[in-house]
Amino acid sequence: MSVENLPGDVHSALTSRRSIRRYLPTDVPQETLARILTGAGYAPSGHNSQPWKVYVLRGATKQRVTDGILKAVATEPEAAHQPEYDYYPTEWFDPYLTRRRRVGHSLYSLLGIERSDKAARDRQMAENFSFFGAPVGIFVTFDRRLATGTFMDIGMFLQSIFVGARGEGLDTCGQAVFTWYHKVIRDILPMQDEELLACGLSMGYADLAAPENQLFAEKLDLSEYCVFLD
Ligand SMILES: Cc1cc2nc3c(=O)[nH]c(=O)nc-3n(C[C@H](O)[C@H](O)[C@H](O)COP(=O)(O)O)c2cc1C
Repeated sequence: MSVENLPGDVHSALTSRRSIRRYLPTDVPQETLARILTGAGYAPSGHNSQPWKVYVLRGATKQRVTDGILKAVATEPEAAHQPEYDYYPTEWFDPYLTRRRRVGHSLYSLLGIERSDKAARDRQMAENFSFFGAPVGIFVTFDRRLATGTFMDIGMFLQSIFVGARGEGLDTCGQAVFTWYHKVIRDILPMQDEELLACGLSMGYADLAAPENQLFAEKLDLSEYCVFLD
């Protein structure tokens, strides 16, 4: 490949990606969305199975999802809503427990929320369901009859959206929390029974002045997760 054909600064796109939890109301042009999602469609997948299916929500449909979930949160027992797969372990343990606590603590202290203030924490959690004010909400599903490895394909697809969005000056936040409310979402979107809701995400232009967006999650040093062997 000649130098002229080298893609743009992929390293910067990777390292500038972070989860943004407050957005400007500025809409995202349709062509930009289509370009990001077309790029994500180039993600690799086992046997080129391309198992992803994507729902892009704006306007009234996005609002119906927000309203439907907030109503379920307010009126139904928490236990009535469970995800279709375990993204998180039931028992956390170190070093993951410490990392999880640290990022949660950083977010809540930026927002001035005390650890003991469950009501305030619940309110912040509920911000997920209005996609943190983002103009675009996305759901990614796949056919549940496929195997566990499909989660790798979906992960690559998701990261391609996240990084592709950076290339357009946009930001994102992955949102597994939507998987708890797949039944509500299923009632609103034209999803087939065999589709499993893998993840939701918000996309838009970051409100860089918002306190929650001052969060830069700590990253491990390369030496902590990589061994070079000759
Ligand atoms: C698949 C996936 C699901 C996530 N779900 C949520 C979520 O439901 N709500 C949320 O606020 N953040 C969610 N996150 C964001 C993580 O908390 C975030 O990636 C992590 O704290 C590291 O921060 P960074 O993305 O800024 O590097 C999710 C991230 C991923 C990759």
